[in-house]
Amino acid sequence: MSPTSPLTLSPRSPSARQVSLAPAPDPAAHGRISTGARSGGRPTLGIDVLIDIVGGLARAEELWRPHVHHDHLSRTSVRLVATAAYEVWLLGWAPGQGVDLHDHGGANAAFVVLQGELEELTLGFAGITTQRLRAGDVGTVASGAIHDVVNAGSADATSIHVYSDPLRTMTFYEPDGTPRYTEIVEEVPALVSSADQARALHPSVDARR
Ligand SMILES: [Fe+2]
Repeated sequence: MSPTSPLTLSPRSPSARQVSLAPAPDPAAHGRISTGARSGGRPTLGIDVLIDIVGGLARAEELWRPHVHHDHLSRTSVRLVATAAYEVWLLGWAPGQGVDLHDHGGANAAFVVLQGELEELTLGFAGITTQRLRAGDVGTVASGAIHDVVNAGSADATSIHVYSDPLRTMTFYEPDGTPRYTEIVEEVPALVSSADQARALHPSVDARR
């Protein structure tokens, strides 16, 4: 995708999700916010709400484009937005970089590929299944799911990931599902200023202005 071309969001594989370019509906109207998954009274956002958020952020290119960075020594990560209900990370993947099989410590997640191509490997009862995600494709990771993401292509890839609750732990697994270790995710300041956070909460609306 060139810096000036719009991101076309479309499904590229049978299990990929599509993000509509139409104005995002009011999340409250979805009735998809599950409550009770988090202590303290704040709701964990459902997968469909997270899809709306990553779609809006993908279109709000001015939020993420200045922070795109790739390092052929290690995968890059920038915490773009932090709220009480969700957080957003911008990831840069050089060819060959991946994560290893992991969960999200109970968080729901969705991610969108902005540039390049990624493979998502999901561990299920039948073993590992793989789907290829190209620019505009959205992957979803329900709470409890175990997956890996890898740049198996020959070009750099960039993606935005949203987590609700904000990601605090990741447990890594062997290919047979045996837990290996749990990593505490360090809480770092988000780059998006507090003034921009209101816009980040409704990115698809503001992206049309
Ligand atoms: Fe993940």
